[in-house]
Amino acid sequence: MSTDWNPTSWQARPAQQQPEWPDPSEYEQVLKEIGGLPPLVFAGEARTLQESLARVCRGEALLLQAGDCAESFDALSADSIRDKLKVILQMGVALTYSTGMPVVKVGRIAGQFAKPRSSATETQDDVVLPSFRGHIVNDIDFDEGARTADPRRLVQAYNQSAATLNLLRAFTKGGFANLARVHAWNQEFVAKSPAGERYRQIADGITDALAFMRACGIDPDHNPILNEVDFYTSHEALLLGYEQALTRVDTLTGTWYDCSAHMLWIGERTRQLDGAHIEFLRGVRNPIGCKVGPTATPDEVLALCATLNPEMIPGRLTLITRFGAEKIAKGLPPLLEAVQRSGHPVVWACDPMHGNTFTAPSGRKTRHLDAVMAEINGFFDAHASVGTWAGGIHVELTGDDVTECLGGGHDLSDNDLGLRYETMCDPRLNAAQSLDLAFLVAERLRG
Ligand code: PEP
Ligand code: CO
Repeated sequence: MSTDWNPTSWQARPAQQQPEWPDPSEYEQVLKEIGGLPPLVFAGEARTLQESLARVCRGEALLLQAGDCAESFDALSADSIRDKLKVILQMGVALTYSTGMPVVKVGRIAGQFAKPRSSATETQDDVVLPSFRGHIVNDIDFDEGARTADPRRLVQAYNQSAATLNLLRAFTKGGFANLARVHAWNQEFVAKSPAGERYRQIADGITDALAFMRACGIDPDHNPILNEVDFYTSHEALLLGYEQALTRVDTLTGTWYDCSAHMLWIGERTRQLDGAHIEFLRGVRNPIGCKVGPTATPDEVLALCATLNPEMIPGRLTLITRFGAEKIAKGLPPLLEAVQRSGHPVVWACDPMHGNTFTAPSGRKTRHLDAVMAEINGFFDAHASVGTWAGGIHVELTGDDVTECLGGGHDLSDNDLGLRYETMCDPRLNAAQSLDLAFLVAERLRG
């Protein structure tokens, strides 16, 4: 990678969305402490993920990236980690069966704490306080103490990420992810879901496939390929001081990796070409993502490709489009055509969440599953018309039974949102809505 890069070179560029730390010396001290802590992931794992993403790039696999909008310090429990993993595994099985392709599973988890905000401050009854920026920075309560940025939270985020990752590794390699078990959960969902009949054909197909494998002597319980899964972590690389502190030279290759997660992405608000976030991520060797919204021009997207992946390495760069259901049909094809012409290898993923957020009459921020599906269908249509590979989807979900998004098999309405609206930031699909989405996508891909 280019020689004029180093882990601090971003500091010479304008950095959007950074909190104001009240005591800079305490902040520096904390970063020094984190710099001395062990990496959370091993560079070799990030390389394996990049190889898997290269398969997505070539149209031989799909990417499923999913998890919280913002993880919470107050909701760290084995159950919540398990249930989030469970729903992602269930979605993965439905998609694998329907496409006959591997699904690369990447969680928005074990580090997805920092949030970009549209305004640096929030005003309530003439009181102006710093905006909530995620638990890695401050707390959500509207009082001065809670909203003051506290650098000790960076250490807590590191510790929570380590604990989460540890359990994810145990679950994914210890038998929890067994294919037969994941399928049994899907059967339970199909049996219970009001829309279940519609999904039964896919579920029955998987039952038959498993029975066939068993008859051939392939027992999921005693076959590591069916008993374990590869699961990767990712988050938005927003707080560059924290990311820098976890950036280390890989001793095997002598190159830099941001060891806070396997994959990092740049958000829609921080993708300025001359900005600090692009400068930082262009130099680490992890697979990286960049959100691309409706204001992005073909030239801008080509410049992102050239800056973030100058060596044109397949799997290195994922462009995550987030247009909104109404804008994707017109907005996406010109970008696909430009990138295709340039020969840049990218994974195209669809974030059908962030362009479809609106405030319901109840005053709650929400999204409708129909709009989410409409954007995903628009994404597949655009790729089909240009002849590019619709590589994957990127969604905000939880394994819990929350009521934050509208629609789905249970057809949640605005009246239901008040029941269990628990998100700290954007509205997430609940477990049933996530499976609805996976089965609807599976149905489309089979067709
Ligand atoms: C997010 O993914 O939570 C997010 C803030 O997205 P975007 O940068 O696309 O707005
Ligand atoms: Co979000």
